[in-house]
Amino acid sequence: MNIVVVGPGAVGSLWAYSLQQAGHRVSLWGTQDTSHWALQLDESPSIDFAYNQPDTLRHADLLLITVKAWQVESALQPLLPLIEQETILLFMHNGMGALDNLADRLRTFPALLATTTHGALKTSAHTVKHTGLGHTQLGAFNPLGAQCEFIAEVLNHALPSVAWNMHIEQALWQKLAVNCAINPLTAIHHITNGELAQPQYRQTLDSIVTEVVSVMQAERMPVDLAALRATVDNVIHATAANRSSMHQDIFHRRRTEIDFITGYVVRKAQQHGLAVPANLALHQHIQSIEQSWTQS
Ligand code: PAF
Repeated sequence: MNIVVVGPGAVGSLWAYSLQQAGHRVSLWGTQDTSHWALQLDESPSIDFAYNQPDTLRHADLLLITVKAWQVESALQPLLPLIEQETILLFMHNGMGALDNLADRLRTFPALLATTTHGALKTSAHTVKHTGLGHTQLGAFNPLGAQCEFIAEVLNHALPSVAWNMHIEQALWQKLAVNCAINPLTAIHHITNGELAQPQYRQTLDSIVTEVVSVMQAERMPVDLAALRATVDNVIHATAANRSSMHQDIFHRRRTEIDFITGYVVRKAQQHGLAVPANLALHQHIQSIEQSWTQS
């Protein structure tokens, strides 16, 4: 397939490299002013990718969009007039709600949503490390996307394991709950994911997850509080040495995904008339850190 990876950060670069290795014609689209970009995955040889070449968009069978949630709209708008209506759009990012304002414009394209637990780290502009094996789930964002189940097999061949999920919304909510629990707390306290296992965080973690569950129930998402709490603990242990993406964003003074993680839960809670004080406090705390950068 002709594949363009839009936003080759850590996860995008991991997929670009793996899909090229699996025999696809992969190119990159991003913010650099260049026509080629080399990438190296772990100790494997470096591969040279076409970069920001409009021809690759015109011929794309699949756009894999791995920019951050808050960049999705601005990254995609200028590309839509340049691609064919048959081009499949696959979105992979933390958080929810990034496509809310785009749904109408995406109606004529097959659109898919994915969530992955693969760990990836950009160690330099041209090198990426695969820090943890994971699982990827994808499913339809719109009716045209529902006809693209075969993409799960294409991805599975390149970077297993990948499964099609008829209820991708549920998987996205589960991941959202994990991100709500881990990301803001690790960013605020400057700690690794594993340090959240310390007893002083237990009550806050419980409150965060309990609140997310109440919103999920209002959204009619099937959910089990004890199972979700156990999932959060499992991720904390499995990624114990990692610094969460929000921790890294705060450390580097980059805009975080808080509005699409905790902020999404807060907005949904407001719509349902539910109080989510623990999540609200974390949302405000991260926002105030971000605001302090523009003021200083
Ligand atoms: O955003 C992240 O860092 C990851 O989604 C997760 C699961 C919290 C692990 O660090």
